Amino acid sequence: MSSSEVVTHSSEETIQQGREIGARLKAPVLLLLSGDLGAGKTTLTKGIASGLGAASEDEVTSPTFTLVHKYDRGAPVYHVDLYRIADFHDLETLGLEDVFAERAVVIVEWPDKLTLRTHWPIVRIRLEHVAEDTRRIAIDDPAGVLTNP
Ligand SMILES: Nc1ncnc2c1ncn2[C@@H]1O[C@H](COP(=O)(O)OP(=O)(O)OP(=O)(O)O)[C@@H](O)[C@H]1O
Ligand SMILES: [Mg+2]
Repeated sequence: MSSSEVVTHSSEETIQQGREIGARLKAPVLLLLSGDLGAGKTTLTKGIASGLGAASEDEVTSPTFTLVHKYDRGAPVYHVDLYRIADFHDLETLGLEDVFAERAVVIVEWPDKLTLRTHWPIVRIRLEHVAEDTRRIAIDDPAGVLTNP
C-alpha cells in the first residue's frame, strides 16, 4: 500500500513511528515532512534517524537556524529545515547541491518553501495537530519505498 495514516498520542509514540519508518528506508530517498509549527516534524525525524541507526534521538535537534544537520554514522542522513529560507541567496549558502551529491536519506521540513528537483524516490509525510498530545501522521509513498523489500 502506498499511503497510510496513523494517529499518535504522545511524542514518544511519534518517535516510535519514525523508528519504524527509518528501519525501512534505503538511500537514496527524499522525505518531505509538512505540517504546522509544532506538528511534530522534528520529533518524527528523531525516530527516523534512530531507526536508520544514524543518530540517537537525543542527538537530533531542530536545524531551524543552521538549516542543515548531517548525521553520518552509517549512510549519510541530512535533516533540513527550510522554514527560514527567504530567498535564493539563502539557498546558495545552504549548499543543497551537496546534499544530493551522494546517496543519502534527505529529510526536509517545510519543503513547500522550495522546489526540490531530484530523481530520487520521494516519501511525503504530513503531520497534523489534532489535540494537545495527539497528531495525525499521513504517509504518501507512491514509489513504495517503505513497502518494497
Ligand atoms: N503525539 C505527538 N507527536 C509529536 N509531538 C508531540 C506529540 N504530542 C505532543 N508533542 C509535542 O509537540 C511538539 C512538536 O515539536 P516539533 O519540534 O517536533 O515540531 P515541528 O513540526 O518540527 O515544528 P517546527 O515547524 O517549529 O520545526 C513537541 O514539543 C512535542 O513534545
Ligand atoms: Mg521542526
